[in-house]
Amino acid sequence: MLPAYLPNSFAAVFGGGRPIDGGRTLKDGRRILGDGKTYRGLFYGIFFGVLAGSLQTWLNLRGFEVLGIEMPAFGPDYLSAFKVIFALACGSLFGDMFKSFFKRRMGMNRGASLPLVDQLDFVLGAWVFTYLMSPAWFVNNFTTWIIVTVLLITPLIHLATNIIGYFAGIKKEPW
Ligand code: CTP
Ligand code: MG
Repeated sequence: MLPAYLPNSFAAVFGGGRPIDGGRTLKDGRRILGDGKTYRGLFYGIFFGVLAGSLQTWLNLRGFEVLGIEMPAFGPDYLSAFKVIFALACGSLFGDMFKSFFKRRMGMNRGASLPLVDQLDFVLGAWVFTYLMSPAWFVNNFTTWIIVTVLLITPLIHLATNIIGYFAGIKKEPW
């Protein structure tokens, strides 16, 4: 999940500048996505997610493990691995954008909290993209127990990192 987790944090660190919706609003008078979704955040987020996945693949090839846990290979060859890593990283930020679109339609301002949805949007986005990209890899690696575990621990990891980001002055809200 690392290539899907990191884009969020790096988008928050490096984001800013031109919003993806270009400041445009829909007929409901609200922004399409809002100022919290920027090109810079998207670009750096995907970049660091792909970098993390590439590093994991490299470590896997060298037989590196932590506490007996191997690094993921993400696929049988470089191209398949890259496709999975890229789908995890892109899917995570597109899931997050999709959520922002619906938050705006629900009349919620940028940064307003939508519990559980804010913590799992990027996980679902990453899974949908990865499933569409490499269905066989997804089904083989994301077994039911792994899916359940990820759904349970991600909100906790997300909340913990956001609280750190908040006190470090990177995030405006601690969620
Ligand atoms: N960010 C960005 N570009 C993205 C995603 C995130 O620049 N594609 C940055 C923004 O600075 C954003 C921060 O990361 O404020 C935190 O992201 P998130 O919590 O998803 O955005 P919110 O500001 O809470 O906006 P929303 O209500 O739309 O979720
Ligand atoms: Mg938010």
